[in-house]
Amino acid sequence: MRTLTNISAVPYSTFRFNAQLASVIEFGSVAELESFDSDTTPVVLGEGSNTIFMQDLSAPVCRFVADSKTVTHLDPQHVLIHVEAGHNWHQLVNWTVEQQLWGIENLALIPGSVGAAPVQNIGAYGVELADSCLYVDFYHWQQRKMQRIAAGRCKFGYRDSVFKHALTGKGIITAVGLCLSQQPARVLAYKGLDHLASDATIDTIFSQVIAVRSSKLPDPEVLANCGSFFKNPVVAKQQYIELKAKYADMPGFTQADDSVKVPAAWLIEQQGFKGKRYGDVGCYKLQPLVVVNHGAGTPAELEQLITAVQQQVFTTYGIELEPEVRMLNSAGQSFR
Ligand code: EPU
Repeated sequence: MRTLTNISAVPYSTFRFNAQLASVIEFGSVAELESFDSDTTPVVLGEGSNTIFMQDLSAPVCRFVADSKTVTHLDPQHVLIHVEAGHNWHQLVNWTVEQQLWGIENLALIPGSVGAAPVQNIGAYGVELADSCLYVDFYHWQQRKMQRIAAGRCKFGYRDSVFKHALTGKGIITAVGLCLSQQPARVLAYKGLDHLASDATIDTIFSQVIAVRSSKLPDPEVLANCGSFFKNPVVAKQQYIELKAKYADMPGFTQADDSVKVPAAWLIEQQGFKGKRYGDVGCYKLQPLVVVNHGAGTPAELEQLITAVQQQVFTTYGIELEPEVRMLNSAGQSFR
């Protein structure tokens, strides 16, 4: 266990706001978690690619940094990959592609750790974590014990899971179990991959996902950001029909339950926010759903931007945009 006190939040969030963290505690094993006591509910953090520190944080930040992985053959076609939470997500995807194990290649280049992946059920290019997740191992602070939560009980939804609701603040994810296939299982329907050959190799798909992402999403190492800032809103079919009558170009993707997912990027772009800045915080010029910190951005500027975007989109379309990124106050609670 390693404890750091009174340190800058900059390396702990890819949005790089200059807040102070009272403490960061890194755990290398479950035994170390068992010896941990805290009066305050800790803030659990992976690599900080979906968290913004809006204020100095007094609550302790806890990170599970062990990163081993083990492979078990389940049947002639499938393998179980048990990966500890501290493993970098993209490094894992890269390794599965090298091993020719299918299932998560469309999730290449998503920033962050394996432990963070189930929390918001990361997804991209027609695939989400839920598609291959078998279980999540979770250490419960109060019960002081490990729990294996089967995927069926993780309540995975669009950028959603039980870890954002009933289990928020209750514990820390220590490992994830994934079922991958030794036989090809291609998902090529998403725009950007749909031109690939139906027998494309896993390496081709992996490289194409990287190329598409790199062409429109800024590298957080170069330009601070936390990926998509808002969720894509889902509206009732009737509301979409009425909107479409008024705004003929409005894209929409019908969901299994007949509701319609509207791209937040389109709504934001239509309202003139593409590339727009409030001080050093702004909507990225190539993908306005991504909010970026050009260097010296402040929480006040971010608040101004979010408020303007949400108000304008709501006034025009009657659609509420919900942040996808976690913004934390001084006690470690979500800001909005
Ligand atoms: N669009 C615009 N203007 C733009 C960009 C996009 O109008 O500048 C519209 C277009 O209609 C386009 C649609 O938005 O067809 C979808 O755009 P894109 O394929 O870039 O995807 P997205 O909906 O903006 C989602 C995820 C991303 C994920 C991509 C690819 C959410 C909140 N975001 O973005 O995930 O990489 O699909 O699958 O669901 C993240 O969660 O941080 C993230 C980056």
